[in-house]
Amino acid sequence: MAMTKDDLKKLAAAKAAEQVRSGMALGLGTGSTAKHFINMVGEKYKSGELTDLVAIATSVRSVELARSWGIPLVSFDTHPVLDLAVDGADEIDPQLNLIKGRGAAMLWEKVVATAAKRFIIISDDSKNVTILGSLAPVPVEVIPFAADAVRPYLEGLGCEAILRQNDHGEAVRTDENNVIFDCRFDSIDDPQRLDQLIKQRTGVVEHGLFIDMATSAIIAGNGEITVVSRETE
Ligand code: 5RP
Repeated sequence: MAMTKDDLKKLAAAKAAEQVRSGMALGLGTGSTAKHFINMVGEKYKSGELTDLVAIATSVRSVELARSWGIPLVSFDTHPVLDLAVDGADEIDPQLNLIKGRGAAMLWEKVVATAAKRFIIISDDSKNVTILGSLAPVPVEVIPFAADAVRPYLEGLGCEAILRQNDHGEAVRTDENNVIFDCRFDSIDDPQRLDQLIKQRTGVVEHGLFIDMATSAIIAGNGEITVVSRETE
């Protein structure tokens, strides 16, 4: 029987969970794939197979999930550097550049990824793209005060910027109480340049382009796992 997307996400998460060692300070991602990873690490922690873990999570929901397993949550004051962060993605290009943020957590996700010595992406193979922007919009987190001023700036970069709303038609708020524009570009030929152009606008807090950040990606498809790595070890 063909594996479902969720089966593939579990396979990738399990492979990443093998990388976790006792004593590590972990960064825990957000989304359905990261949730599998947290549950797998949580089970190993609960059984005593992994000990002395601490973690920083990238969203309130991942905080709650980690807490439900009893994984000790810390903050950057005691752990400014993390050993390993593991998270999902919405798009992955061949250079391991990413679009993230479908789950509205890209700000904390980028903070955690930046603080980590290793940043592993886990995914099913539906997220593979040749050029970023092919499947997913780039989410841009903006302070509410600046939203209407920032939108035309973003559209001037060549996208349609759509305010993310919930099922009740209300603007989605992030864990930092900001709003999100989902910016659909036809394709992103120069992700590094777009990264700078979006980031330089006052009122933008962060965006979902993760350039040169992932150290490796574990991608599951057709029952097979592919590991793409920029790690030297
Ligand atoms: C959340 C994210 C997620 O990691 C990304 O959306 C992938 O989600 P999923 O694992 O559910 O496919 O960036 O902000």
